[in-house]
Amino acid sequence: MESRHTSRHTMTIPPGLVEGFTTLYGTPPTGVWSAPGRANLIGEHTDYNNGLVLPFAIDDRTWCAARVNGTGVVSVASTAQPTRHAVAIADLDQARFEGWSGYALGVAWALHASGHDLSRAPGVDILIDSTVPLGAGLSSSAALESAVAVTLNDLWELGLDRMALAKAGQLAENGAIGAPTGIMDQVASLFGQADHAVLLDCASLSTRAVPLSLERSGLALLVIDSTVKHAHADGGYASRREACEKGARAMGVPFLRDLTVADLAKAEAILDDETFRRVRHVVTENARVLDTVETLASSGPEAIGELLLASHASMRDDFEISVPEIDLAVETAMEAGAVGARLTGGGFGGSAVALLPATQVHNLTELVHAAASDRGFATPAVLIVTPSEGARRDQ
Ligand code: GLA
Repeated sequence: MESRHTSRHTMTIPPGLVEGFTTLYGTPPTGVWSAPGRANLIGEHTDYNNGLVLPFAIDDRTWCAARVNGTGVVSVASTAQPTRHAVAIADLDQARFEGWSGYALGVAWALHASGHDLSRAPGVDILIDSTVPLGAGLSSSAALESAVAVTLNDLWELGLDRMALAKAGQLAENGAIGAPTGIMDQVASLFGQADHAVLLDCASLSTRAVPLSLERSGLALLVIDSTVKHAHADGGYASRREACEKGARAMGVPFLRDLTVADLAKAEAILDDETFRRVRHVVTENARVLDTVETLASSGPEAIGELLLASHASMRDDFEISVPEIDLAVETAMEAGAVGARLTGGGFGGSAVALLPATQVHNLTELVHAAASDRGFATPAVLIVTPSEGARRDQ
């Protein structure tokens, strides 16, 4: 159980990381790199439909202390679990990864699998530390992939741009872990900026930083982690993706992105009810992302509450990826004076995000805890998230 509603000092290198590296590998690291987790403001399950998303990088990060070694082997360990996992660069073709190491070593595999020449790449030792909560819908996995991607890009002098690194992270997730996820999380982690969300068009892969102006508006973003664990290698996420592909095929378009709200009447006429509701979620959600961007520019964050709530209702009723714990968090947040709130991330557990007056953070936290307890749910972890800078070299 965790309740953090004051600012956390998560933006600096964790104490003990550099020393831990030196103890583990017998020599100090030559650098430290990091990448953040993300929350999604709006645009859920739209990325793999070639659609629009508006996530932001959060202030919890994953850190890599690293240095080149002379062995031709990439070795990763974590401060939470210092067993080393290693793969020889020459063996990346046949590599199989154990547990969490697939997210890290999977990036090396993905760089190789996407055709980058690693024949002269030296081995690398990495020690990882992270403050991103696991399984909370805050993309601890993309934070890890992106941190490793920027580390290897620098140490291997690959010269890849951030979108190429995001693609490598996504390929690691899809190919090494087997989670059929889109590219939103990696892009948020790599392209995030302080006090901005990232508008990503998944068709063109173009990005735009969208100012949030939270402080000026006296607003804060809160993540309410239901502590109901999700994993995207499980069936729910994949089945939603399949329903979207089925809907697109039936409507004769390559991706649901190619439909607009005006096409929904035809979709309703030709699709079965469940597929239609999946399609309606994606089509209306893409429209809500654009509305949110326009509303932020014209009227500021205080005006986007209705869009956040409509997104939640669509995920709950049409896409059916919410859980009672998250619905309760959203309802309670609204009763506590939030501007808007919604499930964030892939769903089937994880977190809600709420936008609220900064003065209400304490009140909302207490109400959310009390409401969960009344219903016999686990106590949610509530944390303020500050839209923050994306992946970087720290030292
Ligand atoms: C997970 C995936 C993303 C995206 C979201 C849903 O976070 O990793 O690619 O599909 O779910 O919006």
